[in-house]
Amino acid sequence: MGHGFGKIILLGEHAVVYGHPSIAAALDNYGAEATARSAKQSVLTIMPWAKSVTTGTPSAPSDAELRHAFESLLSSYAMGALSVRVDVHVNVPAGSGLGCSAAIGVAIVRAIDDLLNIKRSSSEVAALSLNWEKVFHGNPSGVDSAVASHGGFVRFAKGQPLALLHIPRPIHVVVALSNVVARTKDMVAFVSQQLSRNNRRVVSVFEGIESLVNRAQRSVEQGDLDVLGQCLDLNHALLSSLLLSTPELEQLCAEARSAGALGAKLTGSGGGGAIVALASSASSAQSIQERLARLSRQCFTVAVHERSIRESSC
Ligand code: PMV
Repeated sequence: MGHGFGKIILLGEHAVVYGHPSIAAALDNYGAEATARSAKQSVLTIMPWAKSVTTGTPSAPSDAELRHAFESLLSSYAMGALSVRVDVHVNVPAGSGLGCSAAIGVAIVRAIDDLLNIKRSSSEVAALSLNWEKVFHGNPSGVDSAVASHGGFVRFAKGQPLALLHIPRPIHVVVALSNVVARTKDMVAFVSQQLSRNNRRVVSVFEGIESLVNRAQRSVEQGDLDVLGQCLDLNHALLSSLLLSTPELEQLCAEARSAGALGAKLTGSGGGGAIVALASSASSAQSIQERLARLSRQCFTVAVHERSIRESSC
């Protein structure tokens, strides 16, 4: 059995693709579970989506990317004809900026490793699962895969060791999904286009995001939720300046703030997907969630705790 966590990015998305830091938390109750067994043909099933792809066999156009990702992951095992059936169950909403594809990729790697009796560290699992993630994201920063594999509440920057964040008490974050699903690959390509057309402007947006991540990290560690909330609002404004927000995401953020959120922003790739709203307490989170439930496709509250990250596979 293999597990991968879903995640929320609190700050730093998009800039993280270009080497800047980000802050993200694993979702304990949303993730993917996978089991693997030897089979005559390599098959991947994903429930409850009722998806099934078989390697080397044409699939429906809508499943071609899924098959390609599975083939790419299997080929990284470098074991010649690895023939395996993998069954996945996922409860992370897809296309919502909550790291669904990374959770599945990590769960698959862990399930196959389990079957083949391969022991890997969580960092190695994350690195291998990037072969899967690249098919869906094009140029992933690796934040989703790292959090899917390690869990915990972390600061991630490409090429740097994952740093665990210390928090004096749990932070209550409301997550609300808009009605539009987004393709991370397209949104990352859209930012890359803006970067090549208007390099100075976009680089300065990324620098602004990095200073917010650093300020937010200090406020998280000091338990200063007011400042953390302001950092979320400002990060949202910078992402909006890259045209990543939508009228629905704006409405969800505005509603969250008027219901008492200390700050709110889009999370993940934008262009649809979800927002996160910071609450001052569990009871405030409940009122914000009640208000957002009327506008949102799905809404839930996460209590982000300090906890250790997973250093080895199990
Ligand atoms: O939309 P999600 O949950 O896959 O988040 C992607 C985060 C980005 O920074 C936009 C892309 C990346 O690879 O880091």
